[in-house]
Amino acid sequence: MNGKRILLGISGGIAAYKCCTLVRLLVTSGAHVQVIMTPDATQFVSPLTLSVLSKNKVYSTFTNQDLEWNNHVKLALEADLFLIAPATANTIGKMAQGICDNLLLTTYFSSKCPIMLAPAMDLDMYQHHTISENINKLQKLGTIIIPAEEGELASGLYGQGRMAEPENIMLQLEHFFKPTTKLIGKKVLVTAGPTYEKIDPVRFIGNHSSGKMGLAIAKAFIAQGAHVTLICGPGVPALPSNNLLHLINISTAQEMYLACIEHFKESDITVMAAAVADYRPEHSVEQKIKKTTEQISLSLVKNPDILLNLGTKKNKRQLLIGFALETHNEENFAQEKLKKKNLDMIVLNSLNDIGAGFGTDTNKVSFVFNNKKMRVLPLMSKEKVAYELVQEIISLTL
Ligand code: PMT
Repeated sequence: MNGKRILLGISGGIAAYKCCTLVRLLVTSGAHVQVIMTPDATQFVSPLTLSVLSKNKVYSTFTNQDLEWNNHVKLALEADLFLIAPATANTIGKMAQGICDNLLLTTYFSSKCPIMLAPAMDLDMYQHHTISENINKLQKLGTIIIPAEEGELASGLYGQGRMAEPENIMLQLEHFFKPTTKLIGKKVLVTAGPTYEKIDPVRFIGNHSSGKMGLAIAKAFIAQGAHVTLICGPGVPALPSNNLLHLINISTAQEMYLACIEHFKESDITVMAAAVADYRPEHSVEQKIKKTTEQISLSLVKNPDILLNLGTKKNKRQLLIGFALETHNEENFAQEKLKKKNLDMIVLNSLNDIGAGFGTDTNKVSFVFNNKKMRVLPLMSKEKVAYELVQEIISLTL
């Protein structure tokens, strides 16, 4: 847990008192803890106590005493993990329905990191159909649920509903962050983002890839201790520097091709998440094309298929994983690409699925394998897809 940045969201339930122990355990393990409380949570446990224990300011309102804004976007982006504990039925319901009427919720909706949730409520509430549905919905979006434990509840009743004990939450966190030694020191090549194929100095042929999927994959490998060479197309935001990351920026498919060929030789695992232009203008010009005629035509020539090429060079110790972005006949096209490009696995995403594909923070993918085996995943954050992909790759390397 050393150096991990944990955002701890505390909502208003009696189990909030357990967060004092939780914060203490987190700090002792070397984590950097930032606490956000809902206004109701401050009734159960004092922000001062949590501030002293976390050695950090505690936020519960949109502005501080000097009327300065508590920036929820910044809080959300800095964290390695957002743990909401205790998560009350009210907070879970709002998370599932897109309601953000306090700082904890606005931070949740701005966050890009993995989310863990430790529900706490009375047993009948915990079993209520609507609340189960909300929890299931969040789980499908990639939230990791730490189930409530059984025991005596604040109401005096006995059953499942009390927040998991801080020591058990710590075990989950340690398990989550623990790199499997399998990938430590492995060399991984990842591509992300679009390519831009120049027409003239102001125009290009490109696509809608934001690079989010590829970046999430690079981060997930780094979290496992792998050395990542990330070949990034234009417009993709930079990842924070890291001694396990070697970043190469390219613009065109041909540049991506050259960079991939150079680094593929030494790679143990290659994941091609970039959306590469299949064609480029036959001739690009150095001066802006003026609109002097009613029509112009652009002659296009084929770009190298990078993945196909790498597939012919792959040796037995290397794993090669591609993506397939389809709009119809998805499974068949994915199977075809898998075979033709000599891949070990292909990640299929379809533009027919809401929340999947270009630009979104979520994706809905299926892992397709050579033996026609297929693992269909629900819609989840791209970070969670990346985590699942890395786990799948670990099992392929067994
Ligand atoms: O970047 P985001 O906004 O997060 O969006 C993510 C994504 C939709 C771009 C990603 O999930 C994805 O599907 N990437 C692959 C897109 C694509 O080009 O798919 P394809 O089916 O056309 O290509 C198949 C595979 O061949 C891909 O691995 C691609 O990287 C590779 N390819 C394609 C063309 C080419 N000339 N060379 C290649 O290597």
